[in-house]
Amino acid sequence: MKIAFAKPQVPTEGAIVAAVLEGRTLSPTARALDERSGGALTRAMAASRFEGKKDQTLTLLAPSGLEVSRVVLVGLGKAESVDDLAAQAFGGAAVAQVMGNGDTQALLAADDLPGAGLDGTAFAAQAAFGARLRAFRFDKYLTREKKEDKPSLKKLTVAAADPQAAKAAFASLDKVADGVFLTRAVVSEPANVITPEALAEEARKLAEIGVDVEVLGEKQMRKLGMGALLGVGQGSERESQLVVMRWMGAKDQEAPPLALVGKGVTFDSGGISIKPGAGMEDMKWDMAGAGAVIGAMKALAGRQAAANVVGVVGLVENMPSGSAQRPGDVVISMSGQTIEVINTDAEGRLVLADALHYTRDRFKPVAIIDLATLTGAIIISLGNEYAGLFANDDGLADGIAAAGKAVGEGVWRMPLGDAYDKQIKSDIADMKNVGGREAGSITAAQFLKRFVGDVPWAHIDIAGMAWSKKDAATCPKGATAFGVRLLDRLVADRYEEK
Ligand code: BES
Ligand code: MN
Ligand code: ZN
Repeated sequence: MKIAFAKPQVPTEGAIVAAVLEGRTLSPTARALDERSGGALTRAMAASRFEGKKDQTLTLLAPSGLEVSRVVLVGLGKAESVDDLAAQAFGGAAVAQVMGNGDTQALLAADDLPGAGLDGTAFAAQAAFGARLRAFRFDKYLTREKKEDKPSLKKLTVAAADPQAAKAAFASLDKVADGVFLTRAVVSEPANVITPEALAEEARKLAEIGVDVEVLGEKQMRKLGMGALLGVGQGSERESQLVVMRWMGAKDQEAPPLALVGKGVTFDSGGISIKPGAGMEDMKWDMAGAGAVIGAMKALAGRQAAANVVGVVGLVENMPSGSAQRPGDVVISMSGQTIEVINTDAEGRLVLADALHYTRDRFKPVAIIDLATLTGAIIISLGNEYAGLFANDDGLADGIAAAGKAVGEGVWRMPLGDAYDKQIKSDIADMKNVGGREAGSITAAQFLKRFVGDVPWAHIDIAGMAWSKKDAATCPKGATAFGVRLLDRLVADRYEEK
């Protein structure tokens, strides 16, 4: 779907989408449509329960007096509550309504709304962003899908008072959407396609947009002493990888970077502590943390962010086999700390232990943020509404929470503490990799904390957020790319030179 910007108009073909505020207050374009159709919009609203509340939609087919195929009204709620997210939801709802009805083009009327929390230019740009995000489809394997089941929409024109300015404001959002799409695509791919090497190859492609990419194989990781990460991958036929992506966009390219670290388990069978069969297919998306870091690097480089950011992702496949690690094994991490592997299904923290230590040791970052589909327990705690946030630094935690709120990727802070840390004491090694049933997400975070030393660090457990079973305003069901927008926003708010 192509997105273009133009002046407000009443088109002579295709669909038109216009906004209505709560209380059935028509936007200027909706008012013009109502007049030309002899009051068809007013009558249609009266005949329905559509009141212009947020998320409500109403479609009028082929209204007389107009040449368009349909008029779609999208409710925006109260004017004063219209912000970036509401504008994005408006664009997303519009696309959802017109994408698959046979229309090849549609006009989205992003009128200036008096009393709205953002100006017309920002409203149009954010609506376009939401529209693009909602239009994502992962259909490459649907080889027999009928033409009438495929999206028909080819072009969406966003109408704004100052189309040039809206287009300019959309440019960097468009790059963020590129990052989101990369993440959604790699997370959607099955594990027979996205192996550690294949995902490393996807990251390598970021070199085309100026990211410096290095890939370490097992031999190099063995030399570095990454026994924790390598232990997870040792049962797999696929070679484990560690990918380092560097975007040095600050004026001083030597200034210490922000570091993003991702868990990239391309398939988590559980290993010898094998998972039950039901739902195991979900574990193809156990690399969503790594996927988000790769997507965030794409977004940052794409929009030429003026910040130094390194992304490090540990890529492994967790499989049971004759060479797999066993419960009870003791591994030596790169930091020198030894780990008793009680449960081979608590593998993400083992991968991150070495990725975090390597990142801190090599880059001396100002802060480290890791993203991981780390624990089922965080889904028990927070469901599919918030990711779990753990941090050893209040300022960093607050910045992440604020960025998440601004982009609609909610995080909820969870506690850390010595009492939890005691749960991972081992009789035979420096720690064990599980801490019992109680506070499972917290003991996992305590484990990670042992590998970051005194660097400001935050861990975001995205197990409940990486994949969605239902459509949302700006995200069709499936891979969400949770974290990409949050990280992009955090960099813009706190790490970028203005
Ligand atoms: N990848 C899983 C966590 C997960 C579960 C992500 C469900 C998404 C949906 C992780 O590697 C895992 O298996 N964790 C175990 C830890 C346990 C063995 C201490 C879990 O949560 O059960
Ligand atoms: Mn696991
Ligand atoms: Zn896992």
